[in-house]
Amino acid sequence: MKILVTGGLGFIGSHVVVELQNEGFDVVIIDNLSNSYETVLDGIRKISGIAPKFEKLDLRDKALVEDFFKRYDDISGIIHFAASKAVGESVKNPLLYYENNVNSLVYLLQQIQHKDNAHFIFSSSCTVYGRADEMPITENAPIKPAESPYGNTKQIGEEIISDTCEVNDNINAIALRYFNPIGAHESVNIGEFPVGTPQNLVPYITQTSIGLRKQLSVFGDDYPTEDGTCIRDYIHVVDLAKAHVAALNRSIAKKNKDNYEVFNIGTGKGSSVLDVIKAFEKISNKKLNYKIVDRRVGDVVSAYADTKKANDVLGWKANFSLEDGLLSAWKWEQKIRG
Ligand code: UFG
Repeated sequence: MKILVTGGLGFIGSHVVVELQNEGFDVVIIDNLSNSYETVLDGIRKISGIAPKFEKLDLRDKALVEDFFKRYDDISGIIHFAASKAVGESVKNPLLYYENNVNSLVYLLQQIQHKDNAHFIFSSSCTVYGRADEMPITENAPIKPAESPYGNTKQIGEEIISDTCEVNDNINAIALRYFNPIGAHESVNIGEFPVGTPQNLVPYITQTSIGLRKQLSVFGDDYPTEDGTCIRDYIHVVDLAKAHVAALNRSIAKKNKDNYEVFNIGTGKGSSVLDVIKAFEKISNKKLNYKIVDRRVGDVVSAYADTKKANDVLGWKANFSLEDGLLSAWKWEQKIRG
């Protein structure tokens, strides 16, 4: 079965391509290389023994998208990652985010709305919950006003898919709301390449430990948590990748109860920033240079998943620990700087 993975050379996309190929799917990747590299194809081939088909294409160009689907009229499913994802950048340049994240989604859905039976997996985020009132966060938690244009594109994206599914029974869509993805493939052939200064905690930690950054700033230790730092749910990217295969298989096997479903994808375990630092120091056997600074604007105190629906309904659960994720991220950092 032929599956299109948009953004398939990115951090999460590349890990999903590997898992799909391991399961025997025929993968075609579209990526505009705005935040990824063509060499990722080599890493994928080294792991799975198969070089996936790849087209450098910008999904904002509707004519190119139409032409692509004419040439690949046997695509049965799409896993859609291609999107801009930096919260701060989205505040500075909202139109880039709306154009890239919303238009691309619409053009893709237009291509499958008349297919007999189409599977669509959407890369969503726990950011849709905003400042959730209760922990852990269930899929029934209210969608709060978005904290950034990036977050808004994920909310709008879910609405676009839901509205489209409402009138197109032939489309089966599943939105996966990820918590905080970390780590790299155990083979260390693929991982994360943050562009410029990392915004996320784990790449900042590994880059500090390897000497690329002087010091990690811990954004606030006066939050109402046990050690005063914020709590997040760090999910290993390989576990996350497997959730996409589970979602696709659910759709293919027609096990879905509705033709639009959403699942939280996390571990269910909350870890504070200091927990992550301590775990990293242990696995790397090195002290990390960090200091506590002021809170970062926009951070929520706590966000971790209720994973019951993903466990019971999707039949998926996270297997890797925080330590596994940190160790693989550290090995990857050492490899790419080595
Ligand atoms: N943190 C630091 N220092 C850093 C980077 C992060 O202390 O240098 C802290 C943050 O304050 C936060 C935690 O580490 O408490 C995690 O921060 P990340 O930036 O790694 O992740 P976020 O939870 O802020 O961001 C994630 C996704 C975004 C998404 C957002 C929604 O990466 O895509 O959740 O809240 F939009």
